[in-house]
Amino acid sequence: MDFIKGMIKKILQRFRALVWRLTKPGGSSPLSYYLDQKAIIRARSVFIIKTHDAINVRWAGHQCYQYPMDAWLIQEVLSDTRPDLIVETGTYMAGSTYFYACVCDLLGHGEVISIDIKPLATIEHPRITYLEGSSTDETMVQKVKNRIAELGAKKVLVILDSDHKAAHVQKELELYAPLVPLGGYIHVQDGNMDELPMLKGLRPGPMAAAMGFLRSHPEFMRDIDLEKRYLMTEHPYGWLKRAALSPQSTDIK
Ligand SMILES: C[S@@+](CC[C@H](N)C(=O)[O-])C[C@H]1O[C@@H](n2cnc3c(N)ncnc32)[C@H](O)[C@@H]1O
Repeated sequence: MDFIKGMIKKILQRFRALVWRLTKPGGSSPLSYYLDQKAIIRARSVFIIKTHDAINVRWAGHQCYQYPMDAWLIQEVLSDTRPDLIVETGTYMAGSTYFYACVCDLLGHGEVISIDIKPLATIEHPRITYLEGSSTDETMVQKVKNRIAELGAKKVLVILDSDHKAAHVQKELELYAPLVPLGGYIHVQDGNMDELPMLKGLRPGPMAAAMGFLRSHPEFMRDIDLEKRYLMTEHPYGWLKRAALSPQSTDIK
């Protein structure tokens, strides 16, 4: 009897070890990967519900419409790449603008331009310039170029967070990509709407635009390591890195 009990115990132990090996979080088996992806999608959806789609996230007391883990990643990119100028489309209440300016303060470097067709609020800060109007207006792009020239800015980071409809984002990508230097990024926010079932009513959105842009612009690549650094991101296809200059263009080098 003891022998049989011992055998059953051993078999159960081995079975548990096998299940753990096949399913452990972060494991390399296809089942682990599948379960992790499902868990991430579910956690992202719950997070959106709990924060009312990040609307109640705050930076230094100001409403900042950003997902905290993604905002932390932006802070890392700013620290690593130290852009001379951050161009943000979509000011809203200026919480994200202020966040970027505060990081620049800590780094002792960088300016921010924030563009909105109708901002709800602005926060005054010596590093921030607000521009009112549509991000896809040619005159707006010219204003940004003028500011780049004024500052002599070489390293420009573009963050797209305005109208999230694919057609608008696609146009922004075409207009602002030439401002990004070799090795620099365009950060496309909120591709989550193309991915999460709960946001499917908002499609096609930024991820669709980014995918289309990458197909016609081989000089940019999806930086998937950066995108997935913290696994949970609301910006799939969110980090487009300039890997080469475009053949025909006058892109900033
Ligand atoms: C998602 S909110 C921006 C959130 C902000 N970046 C933050 O994280 O706190 C989107 C903003 O884009 C603006 N917007 C919509 N269409 C636009 C356009 N064509 N050009 C510029 N801004 C636009 C809206 O007025 C709104 O304030």
